[in-house]
Amino acid sequence: ARPTVWVSQPLIDAAIVPLRDRVQLRTTDTVTAWSPQQIAAQLADVDGAIITLNERIGAAQVADAAQLQVIANVGVGYNNLDVDALSAAGILASNTPDVLTETTADLGFALLMATARRITESERWLREGQWGQWSFQTMLGADIHGSTLGILGMGRIGQGIARRGAHGFGMKVLYHNRSRLPADVEAALGATYVGLDTLLAQSDHLLTVLPYSAASHHIIDAAALAKMKPSATLVNIARGGIVDELALADALANGRLAAAGLDVYEGEPNVRPELLALRNIVLTPHIGSASLATRTAMVQMAVDNLLAGLGLDGSPSHMPS
Ligand code: DGY
Repeated sequence: ARPTVWVSQPLIDAAIVPLRDRVQLRTTDTVTAWSPQQIAAQLADVDGAIITLNERIGAAQVADAAQLQVIANVGVGYNNLDVDALSAAGILASNTPDVLTETTADLGFALLMATARRITESERWLREGQWGQWSFQTMLGADIHGSTLGILGMGRIGQGIARRGAHGFGMKVLYHNRSRLPADVEAALGATYVGLDTLLAQSDHLLTVLPYSAASHHIIDAAALAKMKPSATLVNIARGGIVDELALADALANGRLAAAGLDVYEGEPNVRPELLALRNIVLTPHIGSASLATRTAMVQMAVDNLLAGLGLDGSPSHMPS
């Protein structure tokens, strides 16, 4: 019999349809907030699953999943998966790196520019009818070109942002990462390695682009924010838990940080009222990789990983290590 595969959310049909010849698919037409118990029930009788960051999967979700061989996560971040519990259960897990790098770096830059140049704040003000007469003093923001860009987390996406900053905007690029990049890579990017405290103190704009884990939880907390310039901007495109949102809201409300741009939140899809109340913040709904081409490529990669994991095609690739 053909293997059975659960696809947890509506994805990109064109990339899913070819699977119909190979496996028996269980799909859904509507975006669904699956409960932990519902996820366990869905996984109980399938051989594979294609899932998104909405589905948190650990030991409890796979306890009854006797046939489950592979979980293909459509996304590069996989903190929604308890990879240790899955390996203990003999289940392969995969993610979708590389294909979304440039699109997500684009969004990081878009959010940086919107934040520093007060784009959404300006638009709200205009739409509210507050633009009486052109004024020299309206919506003064911070320069991007020639400023110091700090990047926390220098993986694929961080490097994409570094290239944009150094080569496109003439920025001085500083970065901090668990490990330092080889000198030739640093030189090609135009990026300089510094300690975390130096990064916080010297950045005019700081972008957080690191994986979320216990080690990176609230790495940007009140103490870290206090080390930043009051004129600085902070942009988070990684995972919400990287930033202590209440400490951030407090810094933004009290002039200890100029502005912030967030694409990710601690309690998605809920956004804290303390953030929503602020004028000097740009908020987007986790759209880092959301171009049609990239979302299609992500699903195609997840499909390839799934087929490889089911032993139907090629060899498994892109398994998180
Ligand atoms: C990712 O790829 O990690 C994005 O956050 C979407 O899942």
